[in-house]
Amino acid sequence: MQTTPQERIIRPARNVMGSLRLPGDKSISHRYGMLAAFAEGTSRFLNFSTGADCASTLSCMQALGAKVNRQAEGTVEVTGVGGRVTPADHPLDCGNSGSTMRMISGLLAAQEGKFTLVGDASLSRRPMERIRKPLTEMGARITLTDGHAPVRIEGAALRAIDYTTQVPSAQVKTCVLLAGLQTGGTTTVREAVRTRDHSELALRAFGANITRGVDSVSITGPQTLHAIDAVVPGDISSAAFFLCAAALFPDSSLVLDSLGMNPTRAGLLDVLATLGARIAVLNLEEKNAELVGTVQVSAPGSGLKSAEIGGGLAAQLIDELPVLAAIAPYTSGGIRIRDAKELRVKESDRIALVAKNLRAMGAEVTEFEDGLDVPGGQTLHGATIDAGGDHRIAMAFSVAALRATGYTLIQGAESAAISFPEFFELLDQVAER
Ligand code: S3P
Repeated sequence: MQTTPQERIIRPARNVMGSLRLPGDKSISHRYGMLAAFAEGTSRFLNFSTGADCASTLSCMQALGAKVNRQAEGTVEVTGVGGRVTPADHPLDCGNSGSTMRMISGLLAAQEGKFTLVGDASLSRRPMERIRKPLTEMGARITLTDGHAPVRIEGAALRAIDYTTQVPSAQVKTCVLLAGLQTGGTTTVREAVRTRDHSELALRAFGANITRGVDSVSITGPQTLHAIDAVVPGDISSAAFFLCAAALFPDSSLVLDSLGMNPTRAGLLDVLATLGARIAVLNLEEKNAELVGTVQVSAPGSGLKSAEIGGGLAAQLIDELPVLAAIAPYTSGGIRIRDAKELRVKESDRIALVAKNLRAMGAEVTEFEDGLDVPGGQTLHGATIDAGGDHRIAMAFSVAALRATGYTLIQGAESAAISFPEFFELLDQVAER
């Protein structure tokens, strides 16, 4: 079959076996890159994310005056601006990356000068009011178009606030903390669900003083950040595709080395254990306050069972939900996901696109405004998958395709490079055919 560079054919597999070390975590790389570019001194990172999203963060920070030196094999050196950026004479291009746009907005709101942040078509559809609101409360001047990018910022001296996030979002929390870092007084962010805490840990690693309450985090500004050297842990959200793939095959055995094990990110391991997969975490250690470990997964001979995902867990697992839904037909009891309305405003409407692609493969699925019910005990057939330009949809259905009958064509496969350019190569490495 003829394919274009945007397409990928996935053949069914007999098993998933092997051992992998994955590129650095996307969320942590964004933060390390951004904070290093803002700090005093030169930071050096090993195993920095190879994804296009983190490259967007680095190039925006470069346009704001930081020096970035990317070397081979994920090594990146960043010399920071020492707390004062240079306004760029052109819009900052955040590409496909919501993290870049939302987090840098917080950094820039407290800086002198005018800044414009733009993104691709998908990012330009995503909600930005959620950052405009707290930043405006702090006294920032931010203009959006119908709640969307471009984000126009006229930097100003801000005032500290006590803010409760309306939707669970680590990006919004980070945005406010980065503005608070530069603002006199104590800025507090409260959240109903503890979202990923990489910003809190990274800010501390860069020397900031930050305090945590049960459901809040506070920073008293202004503070100066200092360069660090760090190894970025492997990306657990990228690992999710391989962990779920291994969980599908009764004789599988997969080892993932040096993987980020931050408790606010590792909910997938609990869900896989509930489904019956055997998971072992070895060699746990702490690096710059981030937990890192080796994960071994193998599947139960009896097959996967069922899982219900809702409440705070849905928020913590938000990026892993597409792949869980995509493997759900192969479980015996299905997977039901609720309280995940945020999936509709990710790089695509992930609820609609997961449902559409599962149906294309012959599955039965019920769609809710805030989730999906995917019954188990189903057989899927190969189909043409529309990734909708969304990296996680392309990868999720590549995993579903491993247990389908016949070949699957992934359209929009190139989008995997947004977070995980090596995905297809590594999948071929561990999928036995
Ligand atoms: C991220 C937070 C989440 C997540 C995204 C990365 C981060 O988004 O979906 O992929 O690095 O902070 P929200 O903050 O919008 O929930």
